[in-house]
Amino acid sequence: MAKLIFIIASQILLLAAIVNSGKGEDFAKTIDRKHFGLRKEKLTFFRVYWHDILSGSNPSSVSIRPPVSNSSFFGAVTAIDNRLTTEVSVNSTLVGKAQGVYAATGQSDVSLLMVMNFAFTTGKYNGSTISILDRNAVLTKVREMPVIGGSGLFRFAGGYVEARTMWFDQKSLDATVEYSCFVLHY
Ligand SMILES: *[C@@H]1O[C@H](CO)[C@@H](O)[C@H](O)[C@H]1NC(C)=O
Ligand SMILES: *[C@@H]1O[C@H](CO)[C@@H](O)[C@H](O)[C@H]1NC(C)=O
Ligand SMILES: *[C@@H]1O[C@H](CO)[C@@H](O)[C@H](O)[C@H]1NC(C)=O
Repeated sequence: MAKLIFIIASQILLLAAIVNSGKGEDFAKTIDRKHFGLRKEKLTFFRVYWHDILSGSNPSSVSIRPPVSNSSFFGAVTAIDNRLTTEVSVNSTLVGKAQGVYAATGQSDVSLLMVMNFAFTTGKYNGSTISILDRNAVLTKVREMPVIGGSGLFRFAGGYVEARTMWFDQKSLDATVEYSCFVLHY
């Protein structure tokens, strides 16, 4: 009975929406979040290692635009498809890739604008992503950056990550960075 009333009520709402749609006023409406399974928010933690490989014959990090300054790398734009692994070793278990772009946007300090998605390929997280966007002052010990969204199991995601450089080669500029991720999602 309750279900029937619900169906009738939603039909009336739909009809009202159609009637009003001509004026374009009702293009958006509030819907019940429970219908999306959005009941209880979860906090998921994981730690992954991000491998920025510029050297060798198969780099995962390639220059789109070289820097205009050699001191802060200002102006450099780099595209990445970096391995995300469970341990510091580049050959440890792969859980996904960090795909995106980073740009050196500091004229007098080494700071990057990070625009990247962590695209997971493992287990139940296969196909899910989180999006990270922020300034990354890479010479600082711990850099905090927000998680600004996600997809799949991380739909409606928020939260933040902490990045810590584990290893950096001054010559090749290859680096391994630990990302501790605190993701709020449903
Ligand atoms: C940066 O350094 C390289 C190698 O030392 C040099 O060839 C290049 O001209 C320098 N670029 C700028 C913008 O100073
Ligand atoms: C990872 O594996 C590749 C390919 O087998 C190998 O060339 C490389 O030396 C390994 N790197 C490390 C750090 O173990
Ligand atoms: C992940 O999903 C893709 C696309 O659905 C599938 O081809 C692949 O086999 C899956 N990988 C794992 C490890 O489940």
